Amino acid sequence: MMGMNVNRATQRRGGMMGGHRGGPQSMMKGEKAKDFKNTIKRLLSNLKRYKLKLFVVLILAVSSTAFTIIGPKLLGKATTKLFEGLMAKFSGRGDVDFKYIGNIILFVLTVYLVASLFNLIMGLIMTRISTDITYVFRKDISNKISRIPIKYFDKITHGEVLSRITNDVDTISQTLSQSLTQIITSLVSVIGVLIMMFSISWQMTLVALLILPLSMVFVAFIVKKSQVHFKKQQKILGNINGHVEEMFSGHFVMRAYNNEEKSINKFNKSNDELYNSAWKAQFLSGLMMPMMRFISNVGYVGISILGGWLAVKRIITIGDIQAFTQYINNFTRPIMQISNMSNILQQTAAAAERVYEFLDEEEETPDIENFITLDSVKGHVEFRNINFGYEPGKTIINNFSAVAEPGQKIAIVGPTGAGKTTIVKLLMRFYDLNSGDIFVDGESIKKFSRNSLRKNFGMVLQDAWLNNDTIMENIRFGREGATDQEVKDAAKSAHANHFIHTLPDGYNMLLNEETSNISQGQKQLLTIARAILADPKILILDEATSSIDTRTELLIQSAMDNLMKNRTSFVIAHRLSTIKNADLILVMNNGDIVETGKHNELLEKGGFYADLYYSQFEPEESLC
Ligand SMILES: Nc1ncnc2c1ncn2[C@@H]1O[C@H](COP(=O)(O)OP(=O)(O)O)[C@@H](O)[C@H]1O
Ligand SMILES: [Mg+2]
Repeated sequence: MMGMNVNRATQRRGGMMGGHRGGPQSMMKGEKAKDFKNTIKRLLSNLKRYKLKLFVVLILAVSSTAFTIIGPKLLGKATTKLFEGLMAKFSGRGDVDFKYIGNIILFVLTVYLVASLFNLIMGLIMTRISTDITYVFRKDISNKISRIPIKYFDKITHGEVLSRITNDVDTISQTLSQSLTQIITSLVSVIGVLIMMFSISWQMTLVALLILPLSMVFVAFIVKKSQVHFKKQQKILGNINGHVEEMFSGHFVMRAYNNEEKSINKFNKSNDELYNSAWKAQFLSGLMMPMMRFISNVGYVGISILGGWLAVKRIITIGDIQAFTQYINNFTRPIMQISNMSNILQQTAAAAERVYEFLDEEEETPDIENFITLDSVKGHVEFRNINFGYEPGKTIINNFSAVAEPGQKIAIVGPTGAGKTTIVKLLMRFYDLNSGDIFVDGESIKKFSRNSLRKNFGMVLQDAWLNNDTIMENIRFGREGATDQEVKDAAKSAHANHFIHTLPDGYNMLLNEETSNISQGQKQLLTIARAILADPKILILDEATSSIDTRTELLIQSAMDNLMKNRTSFVIAHRLSTIKNADLILVMNNGDIVETGKHNELLEKGGFYADLYYSQFEPEESLC
């Protein structure tokens, strides 16, 4: 994620060439869409809705640019008139025609004003369009996230999805709001200015056109040189950020292993490298502008001499020289912008492609039509011959079958990686089965909508999921609209009440963003309180009490047992002492149920469970 932000920051810094994403960085041949043509096509088809508005923008862009272009020519006329008037005055044969000049100035002023007004309207329309499109994109992505199978997030990091919502959509929006009109105005400018220049003097235009390739070659050279350093700079910056992030998030670990010095050395090394490539990159790109100005100034001198000579020969007027120099000034910028345009388009296509790729991802199999909703689930759960693997061809659960009668407490035990959590995920229908079926109250879970199915489950996981909010609200998350008293009652049942009262702000204490200002065990108590508040028909506790001391755990268990009377619960626990009283214990190993029965039966059997159980009382042996 850090690397991403770096890219973005350097991208934003642009502007060296006048373009909003200019500068050598954006000239880097970096991102490329895999299918440029079709992506752009699709983007355009998304723009179809705004056809009329875009047409208006086009008209406005062309006319405002045209207006801006005739400005210098008109002002040149004024200068010529002034010059002629002055000459006449000196020779005593007339006076300056101030009325004529005043009219021209007034006219030019009006033209410029209208052009600005057009620009304003154009900007307004394009901003609206791009905001609109961005809004729709973000909404689509957000909707998509909830329809995409959980499976997908096994392959992709959350950071990547996040970057699609923020960076990629941003890139598209920037291009729409700025670059699109820029393409039009730049093209019109270049053509218009060229026409005007030729209309003044073809000789001067040729000289001007000679300077241009010269500065182009020069710029290309500098860009190529600085590119190497810019690339290096970005890479090292990414490394440094990654390193710093790691060192911060793993601060305790680093200190615990006395790695400070090593870490500082590593940082210093990267920082030195960064210094080296950064100053070179900055220096080279800083060199560009002055050098270009020098070249164009030399051209200026040439053109002025040539213009002066032509004026003396009465081929052109004084005002024409003035207009011409203004045109040259207006010439290089749009050309730079156009040459930068292909990169911006590539970047945009790459961003759009990533967004489309995400939007095109295969979705969860939709809920069946006419799904059933159960208002009062009894809590009969049956797994019938289920087979499942996260990846095709790699079975994790083999032909698993089990029945939980309503109100029973089912314990699932087994070594790490046995597939206990997987069973729970399948029951909640986070993943779809390869074969077999799961029934709740005799109905296949596929017949429910996912929402109505999950509504019946309360789930408490090992890593407590809490928000950057108050403790009160975090518990209330279990059931919206619960009163404060209900929240407190739930907390009492979860034996969380006591510790909450010892906190500085009690129930109003704000959990920080990493929710690191309360202990792991306290977090688990809060999530248990939340599940109790939700009051589900079926409760799932997946190592929910692993960070809680044994005494509290037993207290919670008894509270739960009371609460879960006549309700089915699935308990996955490491400490087998806490599930002794389960109605049924499923012992899993490598995705198979290897033993089933009650605690005493399993102990008598002296099999896998008995081994597991006794090993917890002989820590030396369980070490291996
Ligand atoms: N999202 C996933 N993608 C691929 N494999 C997974 C995923 N989650 C778990 N597994 C694999 O499935 C097996 C069972 O995992 P799990 O059900 O979490 O075990 P337990 O909860 O019993 O410790 C493990 O081998 C694990 O590596
Ligand atoms: Mg697990």
